[in-house]
Parts: sequence; C-alpha cells; structure tokens
Amino acid sequence: MMYDKMLGVIASASLALALPQYAEIRDEPYSPASLKMSCSRLVLDRIDPLNDPGVFGTSHLHTIVGGNSFNATMDPAGDPAERSSCTTCTFTDDFSNYWTPAMYFRARNGSYKRVEQLGALFHEEARGGGMTIYYFPRFMEPEKIKIRAFAPGFRMRLGWPDRDSPMRAPWAMGREGDDISPFDGVTYTCLYTESTRYSNLSWGFPDLPCREGILTTVAFPTCWDGKNLDSPDHMSHVAFALADDLYGPPGAHPGILIETRWDKRPFNDPELWPENEGEQPFVWSYGDGVGYGFHADYVFGWRGNALQEAFERHNCGNQICGLPIQTIPEANECMIEPSVPEEVDGWMDTLPGGVVVVPD
Ligand SMILES: *[C@@H]1O[C@H](CO)[C@@H](O)[C@H](O)[C@H]1NC(C)=O
Ligand SMILES: *[C@@H]1O[C@H](CO)[C@@H](O)[C@H](O)[C@H]1NC(C)=O
Ligand SMILES: *[C@@H]1O[C@H](CO)[C@@H](O)[C@H](O)[C@H]1NC(C)=O
Repeated sequence: MMYDKMLGVIASASLALALPQYAEIRDEPYSPASLKMSCSRLVLDRIDPLNDPGVFGTSHLHTIVGGNSFNATMDPAGDPAERSSCTTCTFTDDFSNYWTPAMYFRARNGSYKRVEQLGALFHEEARGGGMTIYYFPRFMEPEKIKIRAFAPGFRMRLGWPDRDSPMRAPWAMGREGDDISPFDGVTYTCLYTESTRYSNLSWGFPDLPCREGILTTVAFPTCWDGKNLDSPDHMSHVAFALADDLYGPPGAHPGILIETRWDKRPFNDPELWPENEGEQPFVWSYGDGVGYGFHADYVFGWRGNALQEAFERHNCGNQICGLPIQTIPEANECMIEPSVPEEVDGWMDTLPGGVVVVPD
C-alpha cells in the first residue's frame, strides 16, 4: 500500500509534470530524486552494438538517442563519456545510448511508411521526436538503502523481438486495461490527448485509432545481480523486483523509464485501416504487428560519478538535481550519419532489411 502511495505520488508528479505536485514531492519525508530529460534523435540506423556488435545492416532498423560515440562496435571497455563529443540529451553529463525499433504503417496495398516520432509532452522541439527519459531511484526510503548508479560498462535490454506474450513485471500478471501502469514493463498508451497517462493502456498495439498518437513506455527492471555488467541475453543480470521486496532487494540501482510518442495522426482515417475488424495497421521494424516484442536497449555512459551524485541530492524535487543541462535546440545539434545507407522513409515495398511481418 505504501508502494502504491509512493509510486502514485512520484509517478504522477514526474510523468504529468504538474507543478502543484512538485510541491507534494518536496514535502514527502523520503522524497527521492527523479531525473527527467529530453533526448533528441541521434540517428536512425540498422546497427545494434548489443545484439550484433560490429555488424553493419543488422536485422532491423532502430531509432537511437544519446552520445555521439554510438557505433556498431561499442566495446564495453570504452567509456562513451570520453569518446563522445556531444549528446542529444538535455543532461550534458549523459553520453549513454538508448534505442528502440522504429514503427511503420502498413497500407492496405501492402506498402510501408515510417511513423514519425513526436517529442513527448514539453519536449515537442526534440529533433526526430526523440525520447523522454526518466531515472527513478528505487521506490523506497533512501536513508535505509543506498542507491547505486550503474557502473561503467553496464548495459541491458528489456524485451525481445519474438515474444508472443506481454513483457511485464511479475506484479503485473493478470493486469489489463486501466489496471496496467506504465511502470509494469513494456506498455502502450493510446493518447486521447497529448497528456493521457495512466489510462487507455495496453500490452500491445492499441486496436483503435489514437487521436494524438501512441506512447510506448519501457520501464527497465530495477534489480541487478551486483556482479555482471552484461549477460548473454542482456537481461538475465537484471530482474524486476517482486512486489513484496520492493524496499529491500540487494543491488538497488535506479529505474529507467523511456517514453516515445509515435505520430499515428496521418493514419487515423478508418479508410486506411485493415478491412478486417480487430486488425490494426502498425508494425515494428522487426516485423511485429502485435507489439509484444517491442524492446529497448541501454548502454551506460554517464560522465564520472555524475549520476550517483545527482541521486544523493535528496529532495531536489525539480527533476534536474543540480546536473548541468543544455536546451533542446542545443541538443538537436548533436547528430551522426547512419552507417547503413538505405531508404527508410517514403512508401516502401518492404521493411528495411527486407523484414517480413509475422503474423501476416
Ligand atoms: C567505434 O568506436 C570506437 C571508439 O569510439 C572506435 O575505436 C571504433 O573504431 C569505432 N568503430 C567503427 C566501426 O566506427
Ligand atoms: C499504397 O497505399 C498508400 C496509402 O493509400 C498510397 O499512398 C501508396 O501510393 C500506395 N502504393 C502503391 C504502390 O500503390
Ligand atoms: C480513452 O480513449 C477514449 C477514446 O478512445 C476516450 O473516449 C477516453 O476519454 C480516453 N480516456 C482517457 C482517460 O483519456
């Protein structure tokens, strides 16, 4: 119950960014810092340093944000903070990279068109839409358990392209509809307005047109085995907390939540949708028309001890916590060229890389 209360206060204040709730956060006796930033698009590219290191033209297209040292190799021994000269995130100490698949619309005639991203609420200026990224300390009393920032070389992913069931935390088993929370794993919010949050949630693509687009949310697990910076599947060194040990598991590291807003608006006309009832026209770049396989990848790249220090400034309440920042237009100036030269926009006969949609 305590969990629900704290989660509610922290989450609604942070996600909705409503000013009166800032005050509410500051007054909480144990109000841990939460960080929030905009990250503009760095590049759209068909590389994946976690799953196919060194490969140019990996299985599917990604949308990528963060430090400009991102490349197909990303040797874990290299420090992105040293190797990058700029970042697309508004926190200038964060040279981490965050990436997800790209979304496509499939027309009745079988052609595809990429769905643009839009900056989420208050981050509308982000180039290419980008992502809104939050860091949450664990939802607990910071006096009791020290939060440990990720170590250099840390990386993880959540989700897997061929999943055929929702990617959700154990506490969210059985949750449907408005019982789903954006903290439960990989979720979709059908945006009725730009600020729809905590309602109209689903585990896969919404099956109705969404007036203001779709918000995908990936909430990474918050427990770490305390030893391994990575694992062969990039997931088994981390785990979701069990509902009943939220206040006490070892290896407490901050939660990361990534929001991406996808601009379905050009495709909301029912004439453009599949003729069969219950079918929807969106697919991910890896060929998933259901949506359970949506996933995100993370490579840690904060400068020095900056993230740890930000978390130790308790009660900072303003989601900046003393970190140096740049404006979104400044962040927009950081970009790199795709390493795989290919068409990813315009009407296309196939998805990039010739990916086939399953089920068809
Ligand atoms: C990737 O980046 C690392 C360091 O930033 C560099 O040593 C390597 O040559 C780069 N690889 C490619 C293929 O660009
Ligand atoms: C397929 O349908 C879309 C949307 O109706 C249209 O814009 C596009 O030109 C069509 N492509 C072909 C090859 O007919
Ligand atoms: C959810 O979406 C429906 C339309 O699809 C809308 O009528 C309803 O108001 C939305 N709920 C909220 C809380 O935004």
